[in-house]
Amino acid sequence: MFRRKVKTHFHPFSYKKWFSYVWPFSTHAHSEYSGKLEINWIDGRKRLDSENANYSYGSLQRILETGLETLNLSAVQSVLLLGLGGGSVIGSLRFRYGYQGPILAVDIDPEIIRIAKEEFHILESESLSIRQSDALEFVKQCDQKFDLIIVDLFIDRHVPEVFLEKQFHEAILSCLDEKANLLMNLGIGLDSEKVPPAILKTYTKENRYQLKLLHGVEGTNTLLLVYGL
Ligand SMILES: C[S@@+](CC[C@H](N)C(=O)[O-])C[C@H]1O[C@@H](n2cnc3c(N)ncnc32)[C@H](O)[C@@H]1O
Repeated sequence: MFRRKVKTHFHPFSYKKWFSYVWPFSTHAHSEYSGKLEINWIDGRKRLDSENANYSYGSLQRILETGLETLNLSAVQSVLLLGLGGGSVIGSLRFRYGYQGPILAVDIDPEIIRIAKEEFHILESESLSIRQSDALEFVKQCDQKFDLIIVDLFIDRHVPEVFLEKQFHEAILSCLDEKANLLMNLGIGLDSEKVPPAILKTYTKENRYQLKLLHGVEGTNTLLLVYGL
């Protein structure tokens, strides 16, 4: 598979980048949804954190990449990303896996969208659209189909309950194209017993999907992978 090092998102001569090798530092923002947000510079890299979790460009990005590694991205022609954050998975798709097709990214939080644009240069273009919307409302009304849906919806360390319920996954099903795949970051500290069976049943009852659960990804997270057959 095509691989290239993930590009950094700052000017190469930025003093902040070089200074952060010696002295990590942060700037803060306040979000109506996620509370305190931190843009942290550590060892020449910039990342987005909530009070108790990494949102983007840290372990979160590696967690999603673990899921993406299991997919055949060469067959993917359209991506829906629910949970934009700072947009690190967009960097992974574009620069690590060479996916250049359209991405539609949805996030409820205008402050997060501002940070993605201004701090991480996640800019709308012909191949990237960004919508400010609640993800459940978006999928309920969505009349498009996608080859890959990435669900990465968190408020701090928690996946809002509504995204672990049948109603959300039924709506997701209607946005999946034939043979499409889903990658969902299910949460922190789960084991098989804690994964709501209703989610799994939504996909297994269709007989056209194969499911995989990965626990303890980066030591913390559970990923759900749904492969279209
Ligand atoms: C961990 S961050 C996403 C990181 C991103 N996937 C990346 O690759 O950098 C989780 C995001 O979920 C968003 N979110 C939480 N609840 C939401 C909802 N109801 N609808 C849409 N977005 C939501 C938060 O605003 C936050 O930006």
